Amino acid sequence: MEFMEFLKTKRTYRRFDQSRPVPRRVVDDMMEAARLASSAGNKQPLRYAAVCSAELVEQIFPFTYWAAALTDAVGRPKEGSHPVMYWAVLCEKEAKSFGTGVDAGLAMDNIIAAAWHHGVGSCMMGNIDREQIGRILSVDPSLEILYMIAFGYPAHTSTVVEPDASGSLTYYMDERENFYVPKRKVPDFIQLL
Ligand SMILES: Cc1cc2nc3c(=O)[nH]c(=O)nc-3n(C[C@H](O)[C@H](O)[C@H](O)COP(=O)(O)O)c2cc1C
Repeated sequence: MEFMEFLKTKRTYRRFDQSRPVPRRVVDDMMEAARLASSAGNKQPLRYAAVCSAELVEQIFPFTYWAAALTDAVGRPKEGSHPVMYWAVLCEKEAKSFGTGVDAGLAMDNIIAAAWHHGVGSCMMGNIDREQIGRILSVDPSLEILYMIAFGYPAHTSTVVEPDASGSLTYYMDERENFYVPKRKVPDFIQLL
């Protein structure tokens, strides 16, 4: 896929083919992508749990909250379209610094890009119940859960559109559960000097 087309389609996906697990070779690429991510001072404070076990994925699912713009009830994937893998992005509490949030963003985008290269879509998730997920995954008390990322082969499309006349940036879904994501036009937010 051409690079700009890759970026255009590397969107948030919230419905997946639940019958299709992520193959091990894709997981291997995602793990290597996490390893290669830039890190402030190269301190590498992040840790991960790549959760492929269907049982654990289903236990985590109720504690992840979907598509706040639509309400969780509408945005939440239905039975048969749940994610098939989660990644927990963890941080060593002792090593947390001003750079940790950027480290997490860069690492998540690397992992998401490695997955999307193989057609595996994702949803980055900050709206999660960290306490419950920590319990399910037996996360060590020295670690903090920063984010979860849900993965699976997408069962819908997501299209970048221009904001409507009102300028609203709220994403929306059509009756077939395809998503539309308004992005500002370049001259509206980038000054070329
Ligand atoms: C830091 C961060 C946290 C997010 N948390 C959630 C979340 O908890 N639940 C969810 O459904 N989407 C979540 N998203 C996805 C955003 O809603 C999504 O990126 C946004 O609607 C734009 O869509 P796009 O990623 O296709 O450009 C999160 C995205 C980011 C960057």
